[in-house]
Amino acid sequence: MSINCSAIVIMGASGDLAKRKLIPALIALFENGTIAGDCMVLGNGRSDYTDESFREHIGLPAELSDNVYYHQGMDGLFDRVKGLGDFNKIIVFMALPPAAYGNTAEALYREGFQDNVRIIIEKPFGVNYDSARKLNDHLKKFYSETQIYRIDHYLAKEAVQNILVFRFANSIFFPVWNSSNIESIQINAFEEIGVESRGAYFDKSGIIRDMVQNHLLQLLALLTMEAPVSLDPESIRHQKLNILRALSIKDCHIQQYEGYRSEETIPDDSETETYAELKMNIDTYRWTGMPVYIRTGKAVGRKLTNIVISFKKVPQLLFNKDGKLDNNRIIFHIQPQSGITIGHSTKIPGSDMDITTTDMDFCYATSFDGTVPEAYQKLLQDAMKGDQTLFVSAEETELSWKKIAPYLDMGSPLIYPKGQIPLSQMEVNWVDPDKYANSCRF
Ligand code: NDP
Ligand code: BG6
Repeated sequence: MSINCSAIVIMGASGDLAKRKLIPALIALFENGTIAGDCMVLGNGRSDYTDESFREHIGLPAELSDNVYYHQGMDGLFDRVKGLGDFNKIIVFMALPPAAYGNTAEALYREGFQDNVRIIIEKPFGVNYDSARKLNDHLKKFYSETQIYRIDHYLAKEAVQNILVFRFANSIFFPVWNSSNIESIQINAFEEIGVESRGAYFDKSGIIRDMVQNHLLQLLALLTMEAPVSLDPESIRHQKLNILRALSIKDCHIQQYEGYRSEETIPDDSETETYAELKMNIDTYRWTGMPVYIRTGKAVGRKLTNIVISFKKVPQLLFNKDGKLDNNRIIFHIQPQSGITIGHSTKIPGSDMDITTTDMDFCYATSFDGTVPEAYQKLLQDAMKGDQTLFVSAEETELSWKKIAPYLDMGSPLIYPKGQIPLSQMEVNWVDPDKYANSCRF
């Protein structure tokens, strides 16, 4: 059933995010019938566009002209929305520089955006605990928590949504998901590109703020949280929060790629980290004693996000007297290809009892037809439906910042060659991330 009678107001509609991600996602949602023809999109900004020139700027297909408009400035914005239709909800997407979120929310409220309004806020949500708390406090003066949708686009990736299904809809994995059976969890998020044109933002941020505080701690919470009592957002957030509460960071090392300081807008003495590796513990009955490792970085030669769950080895008996059998592993392939691999021991045919590791692969590309919807389609669709499951709560953002606080702006990063995963500074038996990179590649 289509979603109807919604107005979608994009603040900062002249910007990059609106053009590259939001408008294409909305076009796809109109075209596949997820949102009905009585929904309207109103772009807003200080830039001087007419309805026509805005449609041209965003490359709108002609058949959607009656659904997309532009309004310059804040004055009269609420009346303009009202003039476009009788909407039962108004979704406001803040595609603005982060410093503008609080004041813009306040201005929107004063302009008339109050009841039946949902505010979507992009990352970064603050730059540390204090700024996140101040922003939350500012927003809460005008909007309730149920009206605020904080984006973490990793939660909307199909393979990430599947983590809870894999864990809680399969009775074979549920009983072994604990530190008695699992040796370690390794989360890898690698990027081929460097900072490109985003140097001004990134240099003030660094990879720990940019990736670890939000996307990767969210992945970690989904992988390790207890089963929620229901699938409502509150129950899921409650369990994720418990993980964040029990999390302690044991070790953290930072590095910077060679040539970073020569990138556009980067100061030549910048100490911002472009790569980080961390070791964490989760001090709960289920997880105590099992390390979680995170590695993430830019300009490391491949775009690859995966999660490796390594199980403890079988006892040194029967087939494993010399202790050489490999660990069983479950690998969640998040991107570029999505799927799951299970690595297990198998007898080599014809041998007496020689054993090797073989893989069972599930790949979205071969198991399902059709394209997987892009993350922003899912996020916009859920916000219109009023489903906050894939959005992050105020408490989660603040707690994540609190946990990561001692590791922000550490300074003096080591330098690594561009295009390579840097040498690890921790004593970890890292699983080669490329070992499984071709599991779902066709
Ligand atoms: P831009 O810097 O392109 O800004 C978007 C628009 O905001 C501008 O076009 C401008 O429009 C308006 N704007 C700029 N400064 C102010 C201000 N001080 N007050 C009010 N409006 C202002 O940002 P992006 O589109 O790249 O990103 C938007 C948000 O999304 C940011 O928070 C960013 O961190 C986040 N984000 C972006 C991603 C991307 O791929 N671009 C990815 C993930 C997150 P005008 O001059 O017309 O008012
Ligand atoms: C964004 C970060 O949140 O996530 C970027 O700001 C990063 O620096 C991006 O490149 C990675 O997202 P994805 O979906 O391409 O893995």
